[in-house]
Amino acid sequence: MTTQQPAPAGATGTPPPSPLGAYDLTDPQTFLDTDPHVLWRRFRAESPVHWHATDTPVPGFWAVSRYADVVTLYRDNQQFTSEQGNVLATLLQGGDSASRKMLAVTDGPRHAEIRNVMLKSFSPRVLEPVVAGVHRRTRELVAQALERGEMDFVTDVADHIPINTIGDLMDVPAADREQLVEWNTQTLSRHSSEDSTLDEVVARNEILLYFSELAAERRRNPGDDVISALATATVDGEPLSEEEVVFNCYSLILGGDESSRMSSIGGLIAFSEHPGEWRRLKDGEVSVDSATEEVLRWTTPAMHFGRRALVDVPLRDQVIRAGDVVTLWNSSANFDEDVFDDPYRFDIGRTPNKHVAFGHGPHFCLGAFLGRVHVNAMVDALRTMVSGIRLQGPPQRLYSNFVHGYSGLPVALTAEPVTPAAAGKVAG
Ligand code: HEM
Repeated sequence: MTTQQPAPAGATGTPPPSPLGAYDLTDPQTFLDTDPHVLWRRFRAESPVHWHATDTPVPGFWAVSRYADVVTLYRDNQQFTSEQGNVLATLLQGGDSASRKMLAVTDGPRHAEIRNVMLKSFSPRVLEPVVAGVHRRTRELVAQALERGEMDFVTDVADHIPINTIGDLMDVPAADREQLVEWNTQTLSRHSSEDSTLDEVVARNEILLYFSELAAERRRNPGDDVISALATATVDGEPLSEEEVVFNCYSLILGGDESSRMSSIGGLIAFSEHPGEWRRLKDGEVSVDSATEEVLRWTTPAMHFGRRALVDVPLRDQVIRAGDVVTLWNSSANFDEDVFDDPYRFDIGRTPNKHVAFGHGPHFCLGAFLGRVHVNAMVDALRTMVSGIRLQGPPQRLYSNFVHGYSGLPVALTAEPVTPAAAGKVAG
């Protein structure tokens, strides 16, 4: 037994660290005020399976922060369900109104059946023709940005890329897409603490109503697009319900736009802050594919997902009880020192790099291929067309405990001098 007393607060000039209970993971402000790496390093070390009390109808939830546990739980759709919600906000309200109508909050055989229907539109083979279009659109927008020199990278560049890809795949009229981006951001996160949760509910309903009308039209006049594919699909000879079609469209427009956009924006910031890695990319020392994976790990746009336990499950020194809400923190798992060497280093040559930015197991991101294509196209366009990145002011962070990202990024980009060979490449 030691007789040594802890140093009194102030004796060393460093205040004692706050207890982990002082971090409110339900409050978006926590993620603006706290260095996430410090926060999650402490959770992983001090309380990897942490009970977080709340004053919601659900009395609290577990926050799971180590990579090994996050992967184990993602894999386990026998003992944990997504059907009562898969993000903290809905889990704490006690359920998700889209349960069993939307892929991400459906389990069991119905999940597998609907996933098979949707995979037909999102497999790498089917999407192969879309890849060149994403690269072309990205290069065009970066070229326009370079002409301007200074810009808001979010609204002038990134906002226009994934929405147009998913918009083309769903054949959403071009004139409606800007409005959809705005609704997407309001639904998943907020620009600031001043936006109300009412805006969130209104935006969500607007998207649902929008797709309800579009789906009805595609049922009557199907085309060669994803909405028509859902509206005319059958499982065991039965069409999908109208709600299944509408909620899955909602999920595709949200999933298809927001996370890829946030990763590309975060990637630009990362390169501006790590000139050595920017040089390695520019010099071709590291492949664009490898850099893409590191941008995805580094930015981890989907900070957490969640589940509800169906039975008692022991995990480390705790027992998760049947009915408990469990949150899996990707933003911690992707920086777990047990899995990633030197995890706080942005290293575009990192190998292996088995991050969980797209989740894991049965609900592994349906759009992972498309998400990767978007980030890859942006990294490639920056590498070939841009010689310098200079932030012109602080990036404006989204107000969210779910999406890690930005609503504004003032930046100056300088163009790579165009050699005849490079000009041919860009034009081709
Ligand atoms: C699921 C992240 C892009 C559609 C997921 C999950 C994660 C994720 C972590 C797992 C959810 C869970 O386990 O509960 C991301 C990231 C992206 C991205 C980081 C981009 C960088 C996309 C795109 C689409 C999409 C482009 C649409 C085309 C979906 C859908 C699911 C999903 C439909 C549910 C899959 C299922 O439940 O079987 N995504 N996503 N995502 N994602 Fe993505």
